[in-house]
Amino acid sequence: MIVVAGGTGTLGRRLVPLLTAAGLPVRVLTRDPAQTGSLAGPGVEVTRADVRDAAAVGRALRGATTVVSAVHGFAGPGGVSPASVDRAGNANLIAAAAREGAGFVLVSVVGAGPDHPIGLFRAKHDAEETLRASGVPWTIVRATAFAETWATIMAGPLRASGTIPVFGRGRNPINFVSATDVAALTARAATDPGLRGQVLELGGQDNLTFDDLAGLVQEAAGHSGTVRHIPRPALRAMSWLAAPVRPALARQARAALAMDTLDMTFGPGPARQAVPDLPETSARQALKELLNST
Ligand SMILES: NC(=O)c1ccc[n+]([C@@H]2O[C@H](COP(=O)([O-])OP(=O)(O)OC[C@H]3O[C@@H](n4cnc5c(N)ncnc54)[C@H](OP(=O)(O)O)[C@@H]3O)[C@@H](O)[C@H]2O)c1
Repeated sequence: MIVVAGGTGTLGRRLVPLLTAAGLPVRVLTRDPAQTGSLAGPGVEVTRADVRDAAAVGRALRGATTVVSAVHGFAGPGGVSPASVDRAGNANLIAAAAREGAGFVLVSVVGAGPDHPIGLFRAKHDAEETLRASGVPWTIVRATAFAETWATIMAGPLRASGTIPVFGRGRNPINFVSATDVAALTARAATDPGLRGQVLELGGQDNLTFDDLAGLVQEAAGHSGTVRHIPRPALRAMSWLAAPVRPALARQARAALAMDTLDMTFGPGPARQAVPDLPETSARQALKELLNST
């Protein structure tokens, strides 16, 4: 039984069908089974658990042979945070996987490190360290930014109000990979014991600025609208002012500033050599598929 925590997310919804198509039984761990929708079906069980609740995680992982963690607490409902989900929640998942004698695939980020300016990247680093020290057979999949995630952030306001928000100057190149390619790699990591003990880093073909990505969103949506830059001083002010009342917004503003200034370029990544038959979806293709299906 492969338990997928985060099976309802952008990555998880692409991963679960790959596992079931290979005839593998899957259990999706979610806080809200009602939202699993089209994921439920033959070969897929759904179980309710919040990764911040160690007892619930223990129950959800009973009988697991492999656990995939594709959760994050960077944004989203339920008062989540990188500290509570990526650090503490992953520690709960790893401890429960150890009790079950299961293998573990952790989805992390390219650049994860103890001193990274983005809190999520520090929390992912801590989860990686907990996993390595756990004695559980592990594989770490590190990915760059998902084209689909950032295109969704831009396409929603474009459709609703004709405006695409771009955080900062929008001129810093960032590597974007398709969640489809990351799902294919994660499925291989979950099913190939030969990949245990490896860190698999995956990027996409494209190093694009947010302005470039906005252009691709306009093209794929067939609707140009207006690009509106949220200036760096506004992001800085938001990161301070929102901290006590809306910590997630403050976190996003800080991350946006970092993404506007840090070197976030990457190549296709060494994982493409370790697992050579992965799909190579360009950002343009990923956006076309995403925006034509929503
Ligand atoms: N998006 C990116 O640009 C990107 C880049 C590199 C790496 N990653 C990594 O890839 C993985 C998947 O990301 P994604 O963008 O596909 O995620 P997503 O679409 O934002 O979905 C987040 C997932 O996390 C789950 N989750 C959050 N808090 C939870 C909690 N307290 N308990 C249980 N589940 C919780 C959600 O499940 P429910 O709501 O169903 O409970 C949901 O399935 C994550 O590990 C992320 O850090 C993402």
